[in-house]
Amino acid sequence: MDDAHRVGVLLSGRGSNFLALHEAMGPGEVPARVAVVVSNVAEAPGLEKARSRGIPAFAEPRAAHSSVAAQEEAMASRLREHGAEWVCLAGYMRILGPDFVRAFRGRILNIHPSLLPSFPGLHAQRQALAHGVKISGCTVHFVDESLDGGPIVVQRAVPVYDRDSEHDLAERILTEEHRAYPEALRRLLVEGWRIEGRRVVFGS
Ligand code: GRF
Repeated sequence: MDDAHRVGVLLSGRGSNFLALHEAMGPGEVPARVAVVVSNVAEAPGLEKARSRGIPAFAEPRAAHSSVAAQEEAMASRLREHGAEWVCLAGYMRILGPDFVRAFRGRILNIHPSLLPSFPGLHAQRQALAHGVKISGCTVHFVDESLDGGPIVVQRAVPVYDRDSEHDLAERILTEEHRAYPEALRRLLVEGWRIEGRRVVFGS
């Protein structure tokens, strides 16, 4: 596994997408390993999930640094120190600044709980219910300076039922998130691909 691609994960909360990625990694699946987990939230449960699996995990909260830029530089240093080639945002609840995006450009992925470009930003499931859509889902996309706006790698759809609560819909989408993120990373690592305009096109 040591020639596996090294992935750094940024998270702010429970870390179920981080775990889904970690558990999908291995020969024949996603040829990568999570080299480091970094959080902007010291109490994020995802940090403990990483440590208990022997993965180095660090908190770099905003309050420990003089500016957002300094905090993001500290996160970038942690990623570099652990050789991260790819950065997977897994419930990282801040918009990354231009310096961070530039440092890892084209190698940052995010997962969002809607079919983008519908419902970017916070509370995507609540937005979907309020709008009355009948289908929602999740999107894995490249991160650029825009809000949830980079090229789309993988999407998975779920039905929205009349009696759904926000929690019901979030749970249904989360099940698909846990499939979509490993699928997206596997395809990017294993298949040929290129970006044409906004489109991620697979196949060489
Ligand atoms: C997921 O719904 C993800 O799409 C969104 O934040 C949530 C994170 O959940 N960006 P978890 O921490 O991975 O369990």
